Amino acid sequence: MAYTREYFQTSADFLRTRVDFTPEVGVVLGSCLGPFAQAVETPIVVDYAEIPHFLLSTVASHAGKLIFGSVEGRKVVCMSGRFHSYEGYSFEELVIPIRVLKLLGVRSVILTNAAGAVNRDYRPGDVMILRDHIKLNGTSPLRGPNLEDFGPRFFDVSRMYAPDLRKLALDCAKDSPLRVHEGTYMFFPGPQFETPAEIRAARFLGADAVGMSTVTEALTAAHCGLPLLALSVITNMAAGVLDQPLSAEEVDEAAEKISGAFSDYMKAIVAAI
Ligand code: HPA
Repeated sequence: MAYTREYFQTSADFLRTRVDFTPEVGVVLGSCLGPFAQAVETPIVVDYAEIPHFLLSTVASHAGKLIFGSVEGRKVVCMSGRFHSYEGYSFEELVIPIRVLKLLGVRSVILTNAAGAVNRDYRPGDVMILRDHIKLNGTSPLRGPNLEDFGPRFFDVSRMYAPDLRKLALDCAKDSPLRVHEGTYMFFPGPQFETPAEIRAARFLGADAVGMSTVTEALTAAHCGLPLLALSVITNMAAGVLDQPLSAEEVDEAAEKISGAFSDYMKAIVAAI
């Protein structure tokens, strides 16, 4: 489908009828990282299903709600639940949420996800600030007619994970009990976890963690010039690192365990942004 600016504007205009302030920071919450949403004060909650031209969350651990409110005195909008290509969405459709956040007026975005550790020095419960990514699977979300209103046809992504936001997140880590690294995220389309051979290849290519999300949103943000911070919660060692099978339960349990400390870390980042 070839989108027009009006397509995204319809969603943003609807949301403006529900919310009378401009959010400064857009936050996308990954699997089981919902507790941050509970930190949003005076929340206004909008179900994705109510928003014209929006998408629907099909994954159990993703709530499917936009939450507007304040965190540490900053106006935010949180996506509690995101969209993935493995749900059947095309890469082009995955531009929708970030473009709507852009039209709502956010000035930066924070993307979060659960990820498997490729780097053997990482452990479940650690956090990785994305310094860069590798995406060799699937097409670009920016494929198709370019909407100049959002950004240029060809655009630089060499500094898309904003260096100043990464530094800010590293500084905030000093006051957090979490072990925080900076590293490279590699996108795999899922829904199957990777094979041990894919993980060995990922390590050889320079990946520190792997996951099934975030990169489409990050590219959309980079295209429309939105400063971006992306954080992975390490929920498991990636396939083949340990001699045991991976399971969604392991991922969800690990994400839930860290979600309180992670939520505090996110609050500190939002306050400092
Ligand atoms: N692979 C892909 N996605 C993930 C993983 C993983 O090991 N853990 C959490 N999300």
